[in-house]
Amino acid sequence: MPSLPDFKLETYFSKWEFNVKYNMCASDMESIPMQELLSMATDEDKKAWQNLHLGYTETYGLPKLREAIANTYNSLKSNHILTFAGAEEGIYIAMKCILNNKDHAIVINPNYQSSETLPDSICDISGVSLDPKNDWNLDINEIESAIKSNTKLISINFPNNPTGKLISRKKLNDLIILAKKNDIYIFSDEIYRLMERDESKRLPQISDIYEKGLSLNAMSKSYGMPGARIGWIASKDENLLSKMERMKHYLSICNSAPSEVLSLIALNQKEKILERTRRILKDNLKLLNNFFSDNSHLFQWKEPDGGCIGYPKYLGDDGVESFTKNLIKQEGVLLLPSSIYKSNFGPSTENHFRISYGRINMPKALDRLKRFIEK
Ligand SMILES: Cc1ncc(COP(=O)(O)O)c(C=O)c1O
Repeated sequence: MPSLPDFKLETYFSKWEFNVKYNMCASDMESIPMQELLSMATDEDKKAWQNLHLGYTETYGLPKLREAIANTYNSLKSNHILTFAGAEEGIYIAMKCILNNKDHAIVINPNYQSSETLPDSICDISGVSLDPKNDWNLDINEIESAIKSNTKLISINFPNNPTGKLISRKKLNDLIILAKKNDIYIFSDEIYRLMERDESKRLPQISDIYEKGLSLNAMSKSYGMPGARIGWIASKDENLLSKMERMKHYLSICNSAPSEVLSLIALNQKEKILERTRRILKDNLKLLNNFFSDNSHLFQWKEPDGGCIGYPKYLGDDGVESFTKNLIKQEGVLLLPSSIYKSNFGPSTENHFRISYGRINMPKALDRLKRFIEK
């Protein structure tokens, strides 16, 4: 049982994110300016912002915020919501509270690293891979074969980081049937939900449809507020939420009071913010699709099903590590090479790279990428 290794992606970002001109692999949307957010607020929310008291807040989260979050689910109430300092604290606490060293967990690959390395630091884990040769297809039979008598949790993330892949509703149902039969929790990282290309393919949230389902979400991606550091887990398992709340006392204790009110403002204006998100994604994706089709000799690309990132393959002889390094050096454009996604529990996705299209400066970054490959 290893201790926690370096978080490769965050280490890479610590080195580069604020030192390059164009971050073309960010997994968040263009952040919403504070002025713009406040200008949208209802009179009541504006008052809450102006009269905000900078004290500690309730560990579960501001009651009105929990209520607004619960309203984003079909069948949940605020007592089914526990908020965190970003989704990341939620992953940490959930894994620590659900798993112990005698358990086994199944994780999907490729993945956001902590969803693999956290359970790996606690118990035996198995990886089930999205198939790069078959458009990142997930084979539910592989999950079934990976289940052991002590499997306690299956961790999924659709739309997936980094591939943008979604599974079908039928596959999700099959997974739930499998989990139910074996009394297994499903931890579903739904942070890229609401950013699907085709809304008819949007999956239901697991906590609405499975009693042992945990939905992870945050203000960080579709709402463009990663700096607010507000995330949450939704679940009908109130005993588990209570256990996680007690562990939060050892970490952030409570959320940042200003961030709670800002998140409440955003959730009360959800449709306006999501419309902005979808407009940016649609415009940028069109450019990206054109770029990849013009350069199909160098890249293998399929439009992602959702989210604001994709994971194309680089076909150049120099390999993706050298390509991404030289791109930073010559053009100040940051991409994320597949070494960052290297896993002990899945096949290598060598020569892929993560690219994003959620930022408004993406067209300028794309111009630089074009100039680089023309050279
Ligand atoms: C799949 C996934 N889960 C969780 C997180 C962490 O989100 P947060 O910034 O809200 O902690 C990220 C961030 O990139 C992510 O991609």
